[in-house]
Amino acid sequence: MAIRFEDIKEHIGSRVIWGDRTELFTPEAAQAIRAKVEERTVLVFPEVHLSDEEQLAITEAMGEKVRLTARNNVQSTDQDVYQVTLDEKINPQPEYVLGTFFWHMDGITVDMPPPFATLLSCRIAPDKGGETEFASTYAAYEGLSEEEKQALEGLKAVHSVRASLSPIADAIPEKHREKVLGIGLVKEHPLVWTHESGRKSMVIGTTADHIVGMEVPAGRAMLIRLQEWAAQPAFSLRHKWTKGDFVIWDNTGAMHRAIPYDKSTGRMMHRTSIAGTEAVAA
Ligand SMILES: [Fe+2]
Repeated sequence: MAIRFEDIKEHIGSRVIWGDRTELFTPEAAQAIRAKVEERTVLVFPEVHLSDEEQLAITEAMGEKVRLTARNNVQSTDQDVYQVTLDEKINPQPEYVLGTFFWHMDGITVDMPPPFATLLSCRIAPDKGGETEFASTYAAYEGLSEEEKQALEGLKAVHSVRASLSPIADAIPEKHREKVLGIGLVKEHPLVWTHESGRKSMVIGTTADHIVGMEVPAGRAMLIRLQEWAAQPAFSLRHKWTKGDFVIWDNTGAMHRAIPYDKSTGRMMHRTSIAGTEAVAA
């Protein structure tokens, strides 16, 4: 038997159904999973309980694995698996995790094509908070009126780590605030991404600081309105984690964020990433 998929919402999300676990690790499954991620943006594997080795096997079968921030992690069992946690003993820079409470795309300020997909395994599920929300920037773009689409044509936004951390800047200890906020490149991206497939999505999120050639207040207001538009229930999905859940999403066509949670919940996620194959293009 081959794996099957079941839609979660009209515009976003599918659940993966399998019989025997070995069905998840065949080359045919990797192809079907990758195609489904592109089509449905978010794929949920309920309580599949992958080991790091199994997660890496799926990651590598789908594309080229890429390391985003693994170097900051001191207890990763594998350098390519990043442990998302607020525990400073494991993650000495929890500011980056606090930054994930706000809508963002992974790796959008780094000087390489944005990662195609992010893969997360839930090792410790919090009792309260810590759900992950996803918003399809494909569906959000498609949902705009023709007039609104035209108004976005040719616009570019400037993205930076500083902008993405500005909502939590006051919570970063003063002695290393400037260092943390200063890290990362500033990248300019077209607001509307025309993918090689011909489909269009928006490149938005808290990393987007302002729009090139537009007064800062007007540009920021536009970016926030687009973010709110994309986050509406029709285009977004909230996943409540159960231990063992595994989720893959198309980072090139979605923003994501975590619902705030407390360090005491022990929330622990293992993350891998798949390299992107195309740069953002207008
Ligand atoms: Fe993220």
